Amino acid sequence: MSTLAGLIEGMTFPLPSPLLQAGEGARNFPLPQSDEGAENSPLPLAGEEQGERASGASQSAGLNLETHHRAIRSFVTRAGRTTAAQARALAELGPCHVLSYDPATTDLVVACAGQAYQQTVLEIGFGMGQATAHIAALRPGTLFIGCEVHEPGVGALLKLIGEQGLDNVRIVRHDAVEVLQHMIAPATLHGAHVFFPDPWHKKRHHKRRLIQPPFVHLLAGRIAPGGYIHCATDWQPYAEQMLSVLAAEPLLTNTAEGYASRPAYRPETKFERRGLRLGHGVWDLVFTRVP
Ligand SMILES: C[S@@+](CC[C@H](N)C(=O)[O-])C[C@H]1O[C@@H](n2cnc3c(N)ncnc32)[C@H](O)[C@@H]1O
Repeated sequence: MSTLAGLIEGMTFPLPSPLLQAGEGARNFPLPQSDEGAENSPLPLAGEEQGERASGASQSAGLNLETHHRAIRSFVTRAGRTTAAQARALAELGPCHVLSYDPATTDLVVACAGQAYQQTVLEIGFGMGQATAHIAALRPGTLFIGCEVHEPGVGALLKLIGEQGLDNVRIVRHDAVEVLQHMIAPATLHGAHVFFPDPWHKKRHHKRRLIQPPFVHLLAGRIAPGGYIHCATDWQPYAEQMLSVLAAEPLLTNTAEGYASRPAYRPETKFERRGLRLGHGVWDLVFTRVP
């Protein structure tokens, strides 16, 4: 296993020494990175037909996450404007808090947390990072690794990190599915947060939804026994899909009968407030990893 040597530049907070070496931090910007772009182009995608084939095959032969995921992403690159403040946060704090995607690093939790944190929680798709920053401030003994592909979102979370002086947040600006597959070792996470993942309303886009059996199996395997997966959505059909997929995963057990109450640590996000304004409900699901 490689360490995170070379992934972070200019650390100013206490972390294991391999993390402190100068290297690629500065190369994270400007974004997007070279491995993003064509694959993530706005819909319809050139790869969409491949995706249909992969999806169709998966239904008959058991879905292969690797094949499925090569063609179908749970996100598209959005043309969002990075504000001046976000750009400043990217330049100033990115080198300290943003890790490069590096599949040669096979145990990101050990490489990042070392002895410094008791637990590590992965957040998938943190958006503008409000929930991430809020929870990280509440739980300073836990390291939060957030995956997000949207540059303004990464800048926004870095800005919050700077404003709140948060030491316990790291960011990987890359597809969380690939991060999970290649950089997170089995049974190393204490928790995973998937808050308001893109609902992909149209039926032909349902294959892009994150919470599907192969992904949930992968994610559950990365959680240590006793650890948890917490999902939330404001889209009822997706909530129903989440409940049936999570309940069917043998590595997981539900902490509630059906949907859970919103845990106190999760703040309301703007997506949630928007959903509530539109008259949608909000559904939380909290499952734990069996021993
Ligand atoms: C609907 S937004 C929700 C954001 C945030 N969790 C919240 O509650 O405000 C979903 C976010 O997930 C991100 N996303 C989707 N698929 C992802 C993936 N595979 N890896 C990393 N980020 C992803 C998108 O870029 C988007 O910002």
